[in-house]
Amino acid sequence: MAIAIDGPAASGKSSTAKAIARELGFRHVDSGALYRAATAARVRQGGDAESWTEESVLAAARMVTLVPTELGFTPLLDGETAEDEMRGEEVTRHVSLVARMPAMREWVNAQVRKAAHEHDVVVDGRDIGTVVLPSARPKIFLVASPGERAKRRLLERHAGAPSDGEIAEETGRIVLRDDMDAAQSVRAADAIVIDTTHLAQAEQIARIVALVRAGGWEVQ
Ligand code: DC
Repeated sequence: MAIAIDGPAASGKSSTAKAIARELGFRHVDSGALYRAATAARVRQGGDAESWTEESVLAAARMVTLVPTELGFTPLLDGETAEDEMRGEEVTRHVSLVARMPAMREWVNAQVRKAAHEHDVVVDGRDIGTVVLPSARPKIFLVASPGERAKRRLLERHAGAPSDGEIAEETGRIVLRDDMDAAQSVRAADAIVIDTTHLAQAEQIARIVALVRAGGWEVQ
């Protein structure tokens, strides 16, 4: 069984998917982490991103392995975790470029499908319900206003509350990323849209778990 959680940047997909996987005893697969890992691998090899070829990114991605963890899967770089590198500014700046390369989409999709073939999974991404696992049930599409997403992203990084100026700046970055990822971020016709702008995270998780259970799928 596969549950798809798609949505734009900073919509809370990964944390929600992880919590749902824990609650249902499924494995969590973060497809964006694979794009990030491939990007980090290519960044390590140096050179101007403008000149990155699809072949060179695919070759660099050979240093990435997706390994099982207690709750799901995590990509390793050269056999080691590289979470900070994958979430860092440089990778975040270039990952959209990598995610638009057809060979890299195939590379990610094959690994996600393999995980879904072998386990019950909750997969988060942009195109899970449309392209990667079109038979996933249910398909959830999380949305939230750009300002709210910016606020959440900043709260993750900051100790205190962000200023209005910081929120405005981050909102601009988020809108730009939405544009760069637009082609890959199509909502499935049968996806259930949940607007989390005014929802607490615990509430969105409870809603999705209830939806899964109410669906009559083979979930305890
Ligand atoms: O969700 P994220 O920010 O970690 O995603 C990183 C990048 O990968 C972002 O540019 C969107 C892209 N992505 C994608 O195109 N398709 C997916 N299924 C997941 C992520």
